[in-house]
Amino acid sequence: MTTDRTASPIDTSTPHPARVYDYLLGGKDNYRVDKEMGERLPPAVSQGARHNRAFMHRALAWVASHGIGQYLDIGTGIPTEPNLHQIVQRSVPAARVVYTDYDPIVLRHAEALLVSRPPGFTDYIQADVREPGPILEHARGVLDFDQPICLSLIALMHFVTDDQDPYGIVRTLVDAMPSGSFLVFSHGTFDFHDENDAYTSRIDSRFRTRAEIEVFLEGLELVEPGLVPAPRWYQEEPAPKDETSGIYAAVARIP
Ligand SMILES: C[S@@+](CC[C@H](N)C(=O)[O-])C[C@H]1O[C@@H](n2cnc3c(N)ncnc32)[C@H](O)[C@@H]1O
Repeated sequence: MTTDRTASPIDTSTPHPARVYDYLLGGKDNYRVDKEMGERLPPAVSQGARHNRAFMHRALAWVASHGIGQYLDIGTGIPTEPNLHQIVQRSVPAARVVYTDYDPIVLRHAEALLVSRPPGFTDYIQADVREPGPILEHARGVLDFDQPICLSLIALMHFVTDDQDPYGIVRTLVDAMPSGSFLVFSHGTFDFHDENDAYTSRIDSRFRTRAEIEVFLEGLELVEPGLVPAPRWYQEEPAPKDETSGIYAAVARIP
């Protein structure tokens, strides 16, 4: 494993997405500001975190079951077992995973927890998705861009506001992937619940409508069941009925 060691100090004066998410998942790598925010959140957001992580487990297991052995995961979050490499290496033991997050607290835990035993391999780079160029450059040194790659942008793009070119960023990343690659994607929404500014007023974010989220997926081949609330994304068993979530989720094949 290699890590980019551009460590910056951990800011405990304001809540951070990675640490609030960790709190919502029952983790211990968060601070008082993060807990206070987590406790004030409406169920749509707090339950959405668990629905999202469960979608991540199902979707990555499904992609790996199709033999995909390379993963670029951006917005990894604080390690929470099972992590992505542990899920995909159940099907593909030699899978290679590049993890990326911009939060220094993720870097702090990556070296201990995002580590793979041979024949698999993991790598971590601290980087910001709003500058996709350096992420792709780094990934090209670790992954084979002549073979399919699974690009994982899970619960990430709602932290990129409209003035930061969210659609252009995803397009740049998707266009760099070889044909036959996959995109695993999820995104926060207020489509099913009243808009609540407890989160959005403290953390720069832009929860989007279904129509706005569909734009990220234009030109891609959606895998069944398409773009759905996260608890409804199922493959091997029927999706639970009547379950919504503050998160939309999809898996798509990149043509
Ligand atoms: C809600 S967590 C999701 C973690 C993981 N992907 C999952 O779904 O379980 C969002 C993560 O995105 C990271 N993040 C937010 N904005 C980012 C950016 N501009 N560049 C890189 N990472 C970012 C946060 O630090 C956080 O770890």
